[in-house]
Amino acid sequence: MAANALDRHLALVGFMGAGKSTLGPLLAERLGREFVSVDVVVEARAEASVTEIFESHGEAEFRALEEQAAVDMLARRPPAVVELGGGALGSGRTRRALAEHAFTVHLATSPDEAWTRVSGSGRPRARDAEAFRALYEERLPLYEEADGRARDLEGAILAAAGVHFAPFGDARGDAVVADAHVAELHSVDAVHLVPPGEAAKTLAEAERLWQTLTLERSGVLVAVGGGSTTDLAGFVAAAYMRGIGWIAVPSTLVGQVDAAIGGKVGIDLPEGKNLVGAFHWPTRTVIDTELLETLPEEERRNGLAEVVKTGLLAGEPLWELDTLEQVRRCAAFKAAICLRDPYERDVRTHLNLGHTFAHALEAASGYRVPHGRAVALGLLAALRLSGLGDQARIVDEVLAPAPVGVDRDTAWAALQRDKKARDGQIRLVLLAEPGQPRVTSEIEPARVREALDSLIA
Ligand SMILES: NC(=O)c1ccc[n+]([C@@H]2O[C@H](COP(=O)([O-])OP(=O)(O)OC[C@H]3O[C@@H](n4cnc5c(N)ncnc54)[C@H](O)[C@@H]3O)[C@@H](O)[C@H]2O)c1
Ligand SMILES: [Zn+2]
Repeated sequence: MAANALDRHLALVGFMGAGKSTLGPLLAERLGREFVSVDVVVEARAEASVTEIFESHGEAEFRALEEQAAVDMLARRPPAVVELGGGALGSGRTRRALAEHAFTVHLATSPDEAWTRVSGSGRPRARDAEAFRALYEERLPLYEEADGRARDLEGAILAAAGVHFAPFGDARGDAVVADAHVAELHSVDAVHLVPPGEAAKTLAEAERLWQTLTLERSGVLVAVGGGSTTDLAGFVAAAYMRGIGWIAVPSTLVGQVDAAIGGKVGIDLPEGKNLVGAFHWPTRTVIDTELLETLPEEERRNGLAEVVKTGLLAGEPLWELDTLEQVRRCAAFKAAICLRDPYERDVRTHLNLGHTFAHALEAASGYRVPHGRAVALGLLAALRLSGLGDQARIVDEVLAPAPVGVDRDTAWAALQRDKKARDGQIRLVLLAEPGQPRVTSEIEPARVREALDSLIA
């Protein structure tokens, strides 16, 4: 079974009335992919509507055309979002093409919901309630073989990224990495222990794991913890035997909305943070928001800064939602961007909103300022330079970050060294409007410095 829709078509299957045609184009837009409806391809080729083909040539003829269209579309590149009709999975040839080329998501619905949506539509198979229900029961087992299952847009994106909301005990692998604190709080057994927090992200810890793990090439490493633990474990998995599978089980808000999604993994060097790493997408990310119940307030605030960042990028006040929905929406937002641009050549840089300033403040403090506080301040600077004073006030209200006491020249030097500065110009992610990020090198250095200085006590 496919683990995610990276480099694969995202195929939507499910009963008629599940909402595939509504959701498909939205999903395609979020993933920056083309949307293809197999029914529309059939209609264009036959120069007749599906109902007309059914009525004048019969179902068998329609199924043959549908199968050919599905197989042709699935063989095409680049990967698209492909909607299949409710009966398309009846074809073994189509199912084989899906297994080879697609990550298949079952857009689930109940028979009653589906009937409410399609009765009276004149569709050939939606004229009799009893026959409709029988057909639903008959087809359900085939839908349930899909790689993932979803009920809405966010659900489909999360499934496509291999992100599952489930009890963390469901994450099964061959070895487990955690820090002692997390392992004890949540009764995680038989673990390879790593130090808590950033101290885990060292070459020495990676080496220790490489030497003590006894996994085969097919082995799966599970990491339970915050971003530090998952960054280290993911990096260890990326290089162990040239790459083994790994499962991220994020236990912090930062991890659940950000670090455990998208496959950026790595460690720090004395010269700087995250200087050695890889792109190694987790086979699964298992999110269990109950893990957050033991999270100290300060760690929660760190996460809230990333939630606010995501809300500004999405153009929606996601920070106002309850924890489960907050995490789900933020995780889906990041997952969509990363599926769209896994190697950060383009839109993935938007996730750095506020971070150029944040990294400068963190570095100038010798990494004593927590990332979340630095991000909160960085967002203020980015919003001010974007000319969005109203939004800056909201950030101030929600996160209330206190200016930090660091040396101004050291912070400015760090900002100019940041990897986003190219050819002597400072590249910043700003917002044209909430929901409309843009990357610019046009801001005068003096204004950037002024914005940075305003964050320093
Ligand atoms: N890979 C990415 O895309 C990405 C994105 C964002 C951040 N990161 C990285 O993540 C790291 C920060 O991760 P973090 O903010 O999750 O913190 P963390 O992993 O450093 O953990 C902080 C502390 O929280 C404790 N903790 C973890 N889960 C807990 C729980 N459920 N209950 C109580 N205590 C718990 C840990 O023991 C640790 O002491 C940084 O190194 C950052 O660079 C990576
Ligand atoms: Zn961050």
